[in-house]
Amino acid sequence: MPNQDKMLSKRYENILFLKRLLKNPVAMGAVFPSSKALAQFICRHVDCADGEFVVEIGAGTGRFTQALLDFGIPADKLISIELDSELVRFLKQKFPKITIIEGDATQLKHLLPPATLGRVRTVVSGIPMVNFPKRIQREIISSAFSILMPQGRFLQFTYGPISPLPARSFGLIKKRLGHILFNFPPATVWGYEKAGNQIIKRRFLLVKMLREKMKKKRFFVRNSNKNKNITEC
Ligand SMILES: C[S@@+](CC[C@H](N)C(=O)[O-])C[C@H]1O[C@@H](n2cnc3c(N)ncnc32)[C@H](O)[C@@H]1O
Repeated sequence: MPNQDKMLSKRYENILFLKRLLKNPVAMGAVFPSSKALAQFICRHVDCADGEFVVEIGAGTGRFTQALLDFGIPADKLISIELDSELVRFLKQKFPKITIIEGDATQLKHLLPPATLGRVRTVVSGIPMVNFPKRIQREIISSAFSILMPQGRFLQFTYGPISPLPARSFGLIKKRLGHILFNFPPATVWGYEKAGNQIIKRRFLLVKMLREKMKKKRFFVRNSNKNKNITEC
């Protein structure tokens, strides 16, 4: 293993990325690590309240990992999953304070410490989903939603113009969050939530609206009764 200074250089990181790409082009899915601009954009859409965790899948050389730490996610609340053992070794040296787990993102429930289950509000994915068949995509998605809180969100970037996941057939609601030109190639970020959540949210808003209306109506009835009493006197 090279010394820490050499390892932390961008040149070393790019060479390592390229080497792993040549070894496994499908799983890597990109020629360069993501840009800082893309990583920062994704971070702006990450939710994490006190006591909650952020899980990153397909950490690669740690571009999103670094951005998440810079963004303020506490090191003990960030868990990164990576399949490639050489990249895992690199990540462990680069980020000694965070939990780096070697494993397959289709197995998140078995990989994560039990204390984190159900306390994850965001999963950030660097996995090149479009390179995988629908069956694998479905496995990764159901694995991610098995550890997410009910209102949790799955964030994914892609280089193509359309959603990298067939949201509707996976029971998800998709949202295009933005397009980042300063990345090679330019990328689009998508957010996915469980479809039921949107219905629950809409119902909640409807009930709230009806309650407000009822309150207003009661206020008017009370006031008009008062006015009536005054004129009667
Ligand atoms: C394009 S790289 C992204 C790296 C980094 N997030 C970035 O944006 O620069 C994709 C990474 O996903 C990892 N990966 C692919 N399939 C995976 C899986 N099923 N479970 C965990 N990691 C996986 C690859 O090993 C690779 O490091």
